Amino acid sequence: MKLNIALLAGDGIGPEVIDQAVKVSDAVAQKFGHEITWKPALTGAAAIDAVGEPYPDSTHEVCKNADAVLFGAIGHPKYDNDPSAPVRPEQGLLKMRKKLGLFANVRPTFTFPSLLDKSPLKRERIEGTDLVFLRELTGGIYFGEKGRKDNGDTAYDNCVYTREEVQRLAKKGFELAMTRSKKLCCVDKANVLETSRLWRETVQAMEKDYPEVEVSYEFVDAVAMRLVQWPNSYDVLITENLFGDILTDEASVISGSMGLMPSASMGAEVSLFEPIHGSYPQATGLNIANPMATVLSAAMMFENFGLAEEGKAMRDAVNKALEAGVVTEDLANGGKAYGTKEVGDWLAANI
Ligand code: IPM
Ligand code: MN
Repeated sequence: MKLNIALLAGDGIGPEVIDQAVKVSDAVAQKFGHEITWKPALTGAAAIDAVGEPYPDSTHEVCKNADAVLFGAIGHPKYDNDPSAPVRPEQGLLKMRKKLGLFANVRPTFTFPSLLDKSPLKRERIEGTDLVFLRELTGGIYFGEKGRKDNGDTAYDNCVYTREEVQRLAKKGFELAMTRSKKLCCVDKANVLETSRLWRETVQAMEKDYPEVEVSYEFVDAVAMRLVQWPNSYDVLITENLFGDILTDEASVISGSMGLMPSASMGAEVSLFEPIHGSYPQATGLNIANPMATVLSAAMMFENFGLAEEGKAMRDAVNKALEAGVVTEDLANGGKAYGTKEVGDWLAANI
């Protein structure tokens, strides 16, 4: 297969972890006879510095014309404590999601047998955890009207959802549940929010089309609690943008390191794959960041092209590295810590 992949390394540790994912993907391509053409493009603070815009039109063109986008991370500390900065790296991410129509964010949480004792939760709580969040990514409070009034003393962020936005996300949720254990949890706050009542009513109306799927409706606060009590009781969870943002960070630590969890964002056409961690500015250039989440994101990319064996080869290499202790400092636990690049080299050599 010939693949054109837009490569958006972004900020902080983004370029370092992306380099490893490219190396491991190239090893996979070589082994299975594929041809990948990488198309690098600017995004985030790096793009603001270069062209004054975090998601320039030139980058959008590259993404739109690619078969998929592989993304590192964006964010830079120089913007974090300056709420009045006129352009911020994160705006680039939101603009990219909207312009590429990436309305469904797939964020799995699973455990690795060799890391069960590295989780902040007890082994018996997390064993067998294998769940997937489908977070709505282009609507809700992130994109509703926002502003100030009363001379700046009152601020508002509107949360708006249409039935159609809920339906298209829920459809992906039902379909995903059908390929797994056929359990779907709709996470909302329908006891308080009107948008949540629309979510619930819309999902309820879709149940008849998927008679085999067992649907539960749970309030977001209760899910936040059960996620750390019995994460292995969940399978597919669907939720709106902000709830999904918060819950997926919470879920990400279950595996033992945030540096392990991949994600995919999907829409009508091109899909984007990225690690769920951020740009980790303190680690920039130090060769200490864990590249595995980005490598596993590339594995999701292959799988999304229908190349299951290629994806599995990457997952197997990661598992083997974890078992062999070829890990970065976040997982070294006082033992030997390998560098970002060395872990990447090892993974590529073990494809
Ligand atoms: C994420 C991030 C983004 C979000 C930020 C950087 C805008 O936290 O991808 O989860 O809130 O969606
Ligand atoms: Mn987040």
